[in-house]
Amino acid sequence: MLSYRHGFHAGNYADVLKHAMLFQVIKSMQKKAKPFVYIDTHAGAGAYSLEDEFAQKTGEYLDGVAKLWQHTNLPTALKEYMEAIEHFNGEYDELTIYPGSPAIVDVELREQDRMLLHELHGTDHQALTDYFSHDSQVKIVNADGLKGLLAAVPPLERRGVVLIDPSYEIKSDYIDVAEAIIKAHKKFATGVYMLWYPVVKREQTEAMLNMLKDSGIKKQLRIEQAIKADSHEFGMTAAGLWIINPPWQTDTLAKEALDYLEPLLGHADGSITVEWEVGE
Ligand SMILES: C[S@@+](CC[C@H](N)C(=O)[O-])C[C@H]1O[C@@H](n2cnc3c(N)ncnc32)[C@H](O)[C@@H]1O
Repeated sequence: MLSYRHGFHAGNYADVLKHAMLFQVIKSMQKKAKPFVYIDTHAGAGAYSLEDEFAQKTGEYLDGVAKLWQHTNLPTALKEYMEAIEHFNGEYDELTIYPGSPAIVDVELREQDRMLLHELHGTDHQALTDYFSHDSQVKIVNADGLKGLLAAVPPLERRGVVLIDPSYEIKSDYIDVAEAIIKAHKKFATGVYMLWYPVVKREQTEAMLNMLKDSGIKKQLRIEQAIKADSHEFGMTAAGLWIINPPWQTDTLAKEALDYLEPLLGHADGSITVEWEVGE
């Protein structure tokens, strides 16, 4: 049974980096008029109230998106991400709503684009369905997202962004995720694949990332914020995105964003990384 609920974590430091870069990738795809599909393998509930008991219990958003609220002079990726957050809250109002990945993408979705969302948890699947109830561009599936990904590629459009954002509740998730991406890439090599990963046990995360690195797939970029040094104690010390086929300038935009975020959200022993792990 699934116990993870993203409502406890919505808007935390990991969401800031993930959603800021996702928004930039979507905007890059829209530089061409040709349609594309956005596939979210683990979509969550859509949008989250920061006033509900979940967010209030952990207060994680206070060390994430709240620290950027109403900041000026942000670098491009953070500025445009915060404008998207304002879209849900109003520029001068309190920060009370946090959009998850499907809602952030929806801000920019054009008529010709579509979304395919997977969510396995019954309650969050229902919330997601309610959120997009009148949207014919969005298909929501209450089934395993990795299987759904393999069934959905190659897309008819031949252009697509895939976000793989599991809860990593089961140890085998790490291996299953890497295997699914490698298989999906064989069927759809030009897609943009964005894998979100946590660092709880560094060796477990690197084992997954090494499977991708050693797969023969080209153009793999690591973007990571460690808010603390790696540790053997319990808890997430870092979070990152591993992007295959990132659009042009994703690395530059990420570096600018992380340079800003590092002193704001990280501790003294934290670090940031933007590195091409596999080149052209
Ligand atoms: C980290 S959250 C997703 C957050 C969301 N992508 C965002 O950025 O706002 C992971 C979600 O995956 C769901 N989930 C877990 N296993 C799944 C599976 N095999 N297929 C689809 N969804 C799954 C969980 O219920 C949870 O809502």
